[in-house]
Amino acid sequence: MATKTKKKIEKPVVQETATAIEAESSPTEALTMGRARSKESQEKGWASVFSLAKRLVAARPDDHLSSLLADLRELNIGRKDPGRYYRAKEMVRGVGSSILKRDGMTVEDGFYYPDVVNSQYRPNAISPIRYLSQLIRPDTTGIMEVGSGWSSNLFQLYIAHGATRSKKIIYYGGEYTGEGQRCAKFIAAREEKMNYRSFFFDYRAPDISFLARQRGHILLFTSHSIEQVDMINPELFEQLREIPNPVTVVHFEPVGWQRVPELMQRREANDKDFFEAIGTRAVAGNIDSVSENAAWWSWRLQYNMNLLPILERLQRGNVIRNVRTAYDFVANANVLNPSSLIHYEFVR
Ligand SMILES: C[S@@+](CC[C@H](N)C(=O)[O-])C[C@H]1O[C@@H](n2cnc3c(N)ncnc32)[C@H](O)[C@@H]1O
Repeated sequence: MATKTKKKIEKPVVQETATAIEAESSPTEALTMGRARSKESQEKGWASVFSLAKRLVAARPDDHLSSLLADLRELNIGRKDPGRYYRAKEMVRGVGSSILKRDGMTVEDGFYYPDVVNSQYRPNAISPIRYLSQLIRPDTTGIMEVGSGWSSNLFQLYIAHGATRSKKIIYYGGEYTGEGQRCAKFIAAREEKMNYRSFFFDYRAPDISFLARQRGHILLFTSHSIEQVDMINPELFEQLREIPNPVTVVHFEPVGWQRVPELMQRREANDKDFFEAIGTRAVAGNIDSVSENAAWWSWRLQYNMNLLPILERLQRGNVIRNVRTAYDFVANANVLNPSSLIHYEFVR
């Protein structure tokens, strides 16, 4: 006699992860003030990624770290310098140059490259992980992300750079939530050769002073974590300044709107009517201004408002030297919260 077997329903891992990572949004969200995720909500989000990671590891114990990442989040390493083809090959250089020229760029750019999107020629930007991996130098001994969550960016960087070349490198994940730190340590333990350290980090009371004792070049980056804190403490940059060795910093943060003086003035004045008017238009589908929509989004969630002013002050004081800025170059999760790249070195 045939026995009825219950079919095991596999939960779609990716969908669940996205739910855990997504910000505060809900279908009924108000147009007016919301707020950045609370620590409790972020803890819950990372706890759910952690339990997924444990389930995946239990079900697929032989999988490589990269397979785990591909399932938990996109493994976004991308092609190495996709613009090279247009520099090297005469026959395609003309079209490649024209595509970039419309946006004031050239094929020498190195960050943007010629692409096609929906039957239109458009520039596209290389993956942030690839960008960071190109900044790892032979003398790099420390790579740190602060506000690192479960350090998925650091793991991707480690995969891009490889175990052989990572022998002298410590990968540091500075994170505010305990669940983010625990999840990161669990995943890092799968990769014996990776020298990974996690530590508590808070943008309001930063302490990375231990880096001053480290020899060699340090690469520090942030990705959509400064966004969560309305006013970060500039002390972070003082501590980086105190480090005697070379320090490279890269931010991927939705702060491009902060370069528009009027938007900054309105935000400083907490001009509710001004931002509500932008929000009303955005909710109706208005796409006239990336900056205005992003400024509204930042205002309604009380997202960061002081990163660019701090960096401008440091640059004026010759404390940092700008290497590359690309405002609003991509919007992976939400077009109202687009990433800007800001890359600089501390002057020594
Ligand atoms: C959107 S997640 C980004 C995580 C990670 N950087 C990434 O790209 O996947 C925002 C992160 O900022 C962290 N965060 C929130 N408030 C913070 C604070 N005051 N100091 C440091 N990190 C904070 C959260 O815990 C969370 O890990």
